[in-house]
Amino acid sequence: MTASTASTAFDEAIARDQRIEPADDMPEGYRKTMIRQIAQHAHSEIIGMQPEGEWITRAPTLRRKAILLAKVQDEAGHGLYLYSAAETLGADRGDLTQRLIEGRQKYSSIFNYPTLSFADVGVIGWLVDGAAICNQVPLCRSSYGPYARAMIRICKEESFHQRQGYELLMTMMRGTPEQQAMVQDAVDRWWWPSLMMFGPPDAESPNTAQSMAWKIKRHTNDELRQRFVDMSVPQAAALGVTLPDPELRWNEERGHHDFGQPDWAELKRVITGGGVMNEERIRRRREADSDGAWVREAAAAHAAKGTS
Ligand SMILES: [Fe+2]
Ligand SMILES: [Fe+2]
Repeated sequence: MTASTASTAFDEAIARDQRIEPADDMPEGYRKTMIRQIAQHAHSEIIGMQPEGEWITRAPTLRRKAILLAKVQDEAGHGLYLYSAAETLGADRGDLTQRLIEGRQKYSSIFNYPTLSFADVGVIGWLVDGAAICNQVPLCRSSYGPYARAMIRICKEESFHQRQGYELLMTMMRGTPEQQAMVQDAVDRWWWPSLMMFGPPDAESPNTAQSMAWKIKRHTNDELRQRFVDMSVPQAAALGVTLPDPELRWNEERGHHDFGQPDWAELKRVITGGGVMNEERIRRRREADSDGAWVREAAAAHAAKGTS
């Protein structure tokens, strides 16, 4: 099959809203974009275990510890499904990890902020997993089959994460003034970084148009950010916390909330390695990779014997 007929079959499948599967012909640009997006997503799930994982040994009760352990394990599972999805495009998992720990591939900027109190666990569940859900629900209809199918399962688990975070915050807000202040402080620190999770404004997002044409992405960054703000405002009111944005107000005409702009220079700084926790996150990932090398070698040696 020539390159031009391959791209025709691909274009037709995209136009008919059919899924692209691993054995299908696809343009090289599509394959590369998909590998990059899935790898960044997988890296984010794995690095995302760290900020909350730090609180497992310090959880205030056995129940909270069990919930947090389950949540962090889910994130490991998400990373594994996604690395598998990237492998269906010909990527090598070891190579992707290498790219991550050498700083050649990115992960979500949100995980480069520190978790300063147990309220952060609740706020991450509510806002960070909440933002992830806004981003990921449309990806369940993404054009690449293995990615879309992985997202369906991941989104189910993300809903649990969001609920557990919100429930934790509700409990703290019914507690002492100190506990309420911890929640407000965590909301103040995580609100703007959560808005940044949707990426730069559409006008400065060069890849959006191509990703929308290929139906990898179904909504623009600004549309998803708006959806997240509209969803979070009533939840904040029910919780009794203030979102730290003086420009936040309901706009009757638009039928949406108006809101202030995050500090885009900060996003640029954090995504290129200048966040408070970037170095630590990568250092720990590199350490985990070398600590686990013997397990991978043993597994490969066992597999090579051809016995089960
Ligand atoms: Fe996840
Ligand atoms: Fe999650």
